[in-house]
Amino acid sequence: MKFFIDTANLDQIRDAAEFGVLDGVTTNPSLMAKEGISGNEAVLNHYKAICEIVDGDVSAEVISTDYEGMIAEGEKLAALHPNIVVKVPMIKDGIRAISYFTSKGIRTNCTLVFSPGQALLAAKAGASYVSPFIGRLDDISSDGLELIESIREIYDNYEFSTEILAASVRHTMHIIDCARIGADVMTGPLSAILGLLKHPLTDIGLEKFLADHAKAQG
Ligand code: E4P
Repeated sequence: MKFFIDTANLDQIRDAAEFGVLDGVTTNPSLMAKEGISGNEAVLNHYKAICEIVDGDVSAEVISTDYEGMIAEGEKLAALHPNIVVKVPMIKDGIRAISYFTSKGIRTNCTLVFSPGQALLAAKAGASYVSPFIGRLDDISSDGLELIESIREIYDNYEFSTEILAASVRHTMHIIDCARIGADVMTGPLSAILGLLKHPLTDIGLEKFLADHAKAQG
């Protein structure tokens, strides 16, 4: 399972990369705005800066919602760095754009996916990644993990190569559940990844090992 961090904050990305298990980064327009990045030049430079920190895929989202606009933006983003994956929303023109990018060898991440049917369309268009937002489904009393299960079943039935990128991951149990179901990737905050470290028996055991060692040394 690949671990991506879902942020545009360079310090957080650096921290996550230093931890040693980071495979990539996802961003979205809200996360970029949160960092105060505005203006085309600044946005492109920020993506370049992220690519310099992380040796892995970096999802960069288009803002346009029409086919021509998405193509123009996506081509510009893809030219920034070989690790850029163009993030395209799950709308009709978005599917058409993904299909075009696929034919040109440009990798894509189909975002804002909330149903198995949408995930099927993304795979048919050749998306490299599909991003079902599990946390946002949980927020409205729908089962985000059930969506991951359905997509896994559909993709396995037809051996689609599109990777399931569980997005909107909010906490550590989401990661474990996604791993059990077979999501290929998860993207979430570093705190959720660090939560995987925790077990009281590890802390108690380490304390005892160190105490016994100290005793033996006199
Ligand atoms: C995915 O690529 C999105 O950026 C993200 O996971 C959305 O998460 P949120 O629902 O916590 O905003």
